[in-house]
Amino acid sequence: MFPIQIRDLRFSPNGRAVLDGIDLELGSEGITLVLGPNGAGKSMLLRVLCGLVAPTGGTIAWGEGARPERGVMMVFQHPMLLRTSVLDNVALGLKPLGVPAAERQRRARAVLERIGLAHRASENAPRLSGGERQRLALARAWLTRPRLLLLDEPTASLDPSAAAEVERIIREIRTDGTRILMVTHNLGQATRLGDDIVFLADGKVCEHTPTQRFFTRPQSTQARLFIQGELPWRMAF
Ligand SMILES: Nc1ncnc2c1ncn2[C@@H]1O[C@H](COP(=O)(O)OP(=O)(O)OP(=O)(O)O)[C@@H](O)[C@H]1O
Ligand SMILES: [Mg+2]
Repeated sequence: MFPIQIRDLRFSPNGRAVLDGIDLELGSEGITLVLGPNGAGKSMLLRVLCGLVAPTGGTIAWGEGARPERGVMMVFQHPMLLRTSVLDNVALGLKPLGVPAAERQRRARAVLERIGLAHRASENAPRLSGGERQRLALARAWLTRPRLLLLDEPTASLDPSAAAEVERIIREIRTDGTRILMVTHNLGQATRLGDDIVFLADGKVCEHTPTQRFFTRPQSTQARLFIQGELPWRMAF
């Protein structure tokens, strides 16, 4: 499935270029962080990769062959939860894979242990807090052992300790061998988690570099201005 080679990817509904010729290559390992201003096309890039939206142009080459039918999962900023127990919500992720019910429950319990929600397993999922919901959604995706996990602002609106917990889970998922592509507006988080940074602006990739180089020596003017705007105490480049 890797490398994933994205060439001249376009999405232009009604003639307006939301993705304006994205070129990007993703290798088989690590966590890639996608940064960029509001409206840059970050969420749309994830949606197209996930297969939720058909691009209007360009190609995505998935390693050895066609796009894998399974193996790509996406977690949204506001995950959808069913009005049922935490355990059932997690086990749900395995249903499309044809795993028998008892095995689904067993594996869901095991993953709930790993994310520290085992004691809430029988509670009604919609009662969970924002941070707990996000952990549940990560657990649901993790359970399916995806090759590629797409995360769209998984810690937006979480308090620092909830965000730290979600970051810990994301690291564990990576250690388990899942490739991660994640959007964030939190630059501190990008430096903590990201092996490399993709900087998007106006539907284009302006920069794709290792994290440290991105923050110390951004190559594009857009990235420099973006970092300066977010980190005003880092004005000297
Ligand atoms: N289905 C759609 N049809 C047409 N335009 C869309 C569609 N979805 C999103 N857009 C537009 O595409 C642009 C990019 O949206 P996107 O959600 O990818 O931005 P983003 O980089 O994720 O921004 P943010 O940081 O605010 O989440 C926006 O101007 C948005 O209004
Ligand atoms: Mg977005």
